[in-house]
Amino acid sequence: MQDHHAILEMRSITKEFPGVKALDEVSLRVRAGEIHAICGENGAGKSTLMKVLSGVYPHGTYDGEIVYQGEEVQFKDIRSSEAAGIVIIHQELALIPELSITENIFLGNEVRGKLGIDWDEARSRAKELMARVGLRASPDALVKNIGVGRQQLVEIARALAKDVRLLILDEPTAALNEDDSQHLLDLMRGLRAKGLTSIMISHKLNEIEAIADSITIIRDGHSVETLDVSAGGVDEDRIIRGMVGRSLESRFPDHTPTIGEIFFEVDGWTVEDPEVPGRLICKQSSFHVRRGEIVGFAGIMGAGRTELARSIFGHSYGRFLSGEVKIDGKSVSMPTVLSAVKNGIAYVPEDRKSLGLNLLDTIQDTVIAANLPRVTKHASISSDESYLAAEGYRKSLGVKAPSVKEGVAKLSGGNQQKVLLAKWMFTEPELLILDEPTRGIDVGAKFEIYALIQQLADAGKGVVVISSELPELLGMCDRIYTVFEGRVTGDVPGKDATQEGLMRLMTGAPA
Ligand SMILES: Nc1ncnc2c1ncn2[C@@H]1O[C@H](COP(=O)(O)OP(=O)(O)OP(=O)(O)O)[C@@H](O)[C@H]1O
Ligand SMILES: [Mg+2]
Repeated sequence: MQDHHAILEMRSITKEFPGVKALDEVSLRVRAGEIHAICGENGAGKSTLMKVLSGVYPHGTYDGEIVYQGEEVQFKDIRSSEAAGIVIIHQELALIPELSITENIFLGNEVRGKLGIDWDEARSRAKELMARVGLRASPDALVKNIGVGRQQLVEIARALAKDVRLLILDEPTAALNEDDSQHLLDLMRGLRAKGLTSIMISHKLNEIEAIADSITIIRDGHSVETLDVSAGGVDEDRIIRGMVGRSLESRFPDHTPTIGEIFFEVDGWTVEDPEVPGRLICKQSSFHVRRGEIVGFAGIMGAGRTELARSIFGHSYGRFLSGEVKIDGKSVSMPTVLSAVKNGIAYVPEDRKSLGLNLLDTIQDTVIAANLPRVTKHASISSDESYLAAEGYRKSLGVKAPSVKEGVAKLSGGNQQKVLLAKWMFTEPELLILDEPTRGIDVGAKFEIYALIQQLADAGKGVVVISSELPELLGMCDRIYTVFEGRVTGDVPGKDATQEGLMRLMTGAPA
């Protein structure tokens, strides 16, 4: 019965958490040397399956068996799977920001000499590994200073340092821009050419289509099918049909905007880098939003879109130098987050872990947290009202959880993102600023999020969407600003915008 081509077979894996059967007899067969993709909706069980494989959930805490390189394996922790050459890079990066690249690469796997850790040797091995993954930086650079694209490469270098034979990447490109994503995919192709087997989870179906040899689809804790890409006939629509059980007619809901008066204006906004005095992050930026309007911000990573949004949202980034915000024609000052919220502004950050979610809270407490007065009756918080509010969002956004009393820490990545979105929608803002709102969100749920954004706009609010995915901006926005090196370089009506035209403005080329 042994199959010589399979490096890995997971057979009838069942994994339960209290009240949730995350995996129900899931099977996965990965051929040696291939890139095998796992696709499925948020909460389908993709990350859980990979945690079972890598020993995060040890043998004995799941049912079923794992056959790796022809032998049954029973990993008791991550160390034992790593010893067998299986390395997982998790959805949320696990690097230590305050340490250097070299230190991160060899963390827990130190290069030892006679007198303890041999840093010279470590540094030179780090340089070799960095060259292999195409990471240009000093081996002594602190990880917090190199940006997510290069951080992802550090993770891969770290895996290669461990003599990896099966590399697992859980949404490796979710936080990367176009260029960094392409670099990463090329690197994976290069590693495949050298015989490395990879498993990759992603919601970016175009990337899956471009790189995967096989695709296993998981729906609601069940393995549905495995598609052989080389056999042909596998495109994004085919994958979606497997994931959601039907074709998706359209990626964006139909919408006829009702656009009113300008109500939000920013003029000459200028902000200095908090760490490098004299370096300007926002340079004389001006823009406006009308009621009922969905306004996009396009820019390459580092262009300053997030910094612009955060500095407006209660000066929560950088050192404010000059500029003015007007709401309904009146100049307002918003030096704190609280004052921004009071002025009807909400900002949903791109990095849900560090800025948005308290992982100790329940879904319900998270949803109401930024607008307690709305659920306060006679000076105390009404738990009925809170429940109804949270439950409403759970339904409309399809948050996969047994109840809203569940802790957010237990939710899948995409479902955490939905809860964060609900939290800020619940503040009923006049202006909602969304920073990469669909990062890590499956195709079906994206549609629901777009529909909610449109509802807000139709209720006369303004919505700003910062996104690295141009098709998303083109599909959603009534107007799109481009940002390049801290400057607003373009203001394009949605109906006239093209990817190419936006790219030119985003890279500072003349229009
Ligand atoms: N530690 C946990 N305790 C309880 N439930 C959990 C835990 N981890 C995951 N789950 C549940 O198991 C299911 C599968 O979650 P998993 O993280 O595997 O989804 P996923 O397919 O990776 O989704 P996403 O695309 O959003 O990352 C979800 O319903 C999730 O809420
Ligand atoms: Mg996941």
